[in-house]
Amino acid sequence: MNETIINIIDSKNEHSKGTLVFGTDHGGFEYKEFLKEVVRDWGYTVIDCGTHSTDSVDYPDYITPVVKEVLAGAKGVLLCGSGIGMSIGANRFKGIRAALCYDGLMARIAREHNDANILILGERIIGKQEAVSCLEVFLNTPFQEGRHLRRIEKLDEIEDYL
Ligand code: RB5
Repeated sequence: MNETIINIIDSKNEHSKGTLVFGTDHGGFEYKEFLKEVVRDWGYTVIDCGTHSTDSVDYPDYITPVVKEVLAGAKGVLLCGSGIGMSIGANRFKGIRAALCYDGLMARIAREHNDANILILGERIIGKQEAVSCLEVFLNTPFQEGRHLRRIEKLDEIEDYL
């Protein structure tokens, strides 16, 4: 596994709204750089787990550092070209509910019904404004709990069985 450099970047707002951790391969690098600035403007503290250029890398190397921060309480954003590789990888970790979204409706349902703690975006699939919409909704939509809590608890039971 590659060594991943973690840069902690302070938000522009001294009263941070929370911590958002980003990870990507080369396929999502451009959107990562763009979205980091967007969320800093919104008042979030950013942790950037790489990658730090468009040089070709392997997407699985960027999942674990993000997952560790999410399991410690941050919200996460993973990007790659399609979003599929990151989805497959991130959802192997117990306690991770990573949702590949392509519009605000998907992001809303991912939060309200699934309590998603990682948003996954495919840079080669959606436009920048859709990515911003997904992120805005992901960050501002609460989990509905109720019957949905029972269902996500059943996801943990599946993980225990395996
Ligand atoms: C990289 O070319 C590409 O395979 C990756 O970004 C992603 O789409 C994998 O699922």
